[in-house]
Amino acid sequence: MKNTSVTFKEAKAKGQKLSMLTAYDYTTAKLVDEAGIDAILVGDSLGMVMLGYEDTLSVTMEDMIHHTAAVARGAKNALLIADMPFMSYQTSVYDAVVNAGRLVKEGHAQAVKLEGGLDFCEHIQAIVKASIPVCGHIGLTPQSVNAFGGFKVQGKGEEAAQRILDEARALEKAGAFAVVLECVPAALADKITKSIGIPTIGIGAGAGCDGQVLVYQDMLAMYSDMAPKFAKQYAQLGSQMKEAFAAYKQEVADGVFPAAEHTFKMDETIIDKLY
Ligand code: KIV
Repeated sequence: MKNTSVTFKEAKAKGQKLSMLTAYDYTTAKLVDEAGIDAILVGDSLGMVMLGYEDTLSVTMEDMIHHTAAVARGAKNALLIADMPFMSYQTSVYDAVVNAGRLVKEGHAQAVKLEGGLDFCEHIQAIVKASIPVCGHIGLTPQSVNAFGGFKVQGKGEEAAQRILDEARALEKAGAFAVVLECVPAALADKITKSIGIPTIGIGAGAGCDGQVLVYQDMLAMYSDMAPKFAKQYAQLGSQMKEAFAAYKQEVADGVFPAAEHTFKMDETIIDKLY
């Protein structure tokens, strides 16, 4: 059965942990979905891991719609959440609703995620009012990389920790169905998880969260530009892929590939009749 924002909220009430992974294309989405992962996030991290940018700031609505629509065709059971890219909602409440609507109508997302806390509650309320479920995202919000001065752990001091807790409460009040906590100390994530009624989904936020999310290239060791401390590597697909590509190159060079079993046959007397 297809997961929804409602099943997500119910999972917290039942004490069931939620799993989320990113995907950006049909083939990966199908694999993630078939593995039984609860939700797929088409993250704006695609700017870095799929498009090769240094950060997520250049990602456009067109990029998000294109990748979300591909993932939607592969996500049969997982809840499909699409990120709202930089400047698709910060500009106004109106833009937020219009662009969230595009991710649902054109990308076939079931929910959207946007970064930011207290400053964006009005935007979240308006999107939710338009019947589009919203997942919040606080702590390290990569779209604010220039304001933060880099990708840094957030909420270590008392004032910063209180602000993040207040933001989580405000997001719940604004109608968010879940909230991603990125790169915050585990003790703070634990306190937030116990303080709100909607699920917390952690990334670099410890085991106390109601669920976890990872970028799939990080957990498969496919992306070598950055290796976040919090991303456990469940397989070494990057090196396996490189070995396979190199083996293919060698077999082509040696004339070993393609072999007879990769080749189509015909009545070869026909060849003799050709002029
Ligand atoms: O863009 C993304 O992949 C994300 C996750 C890191 C939570 O926002």
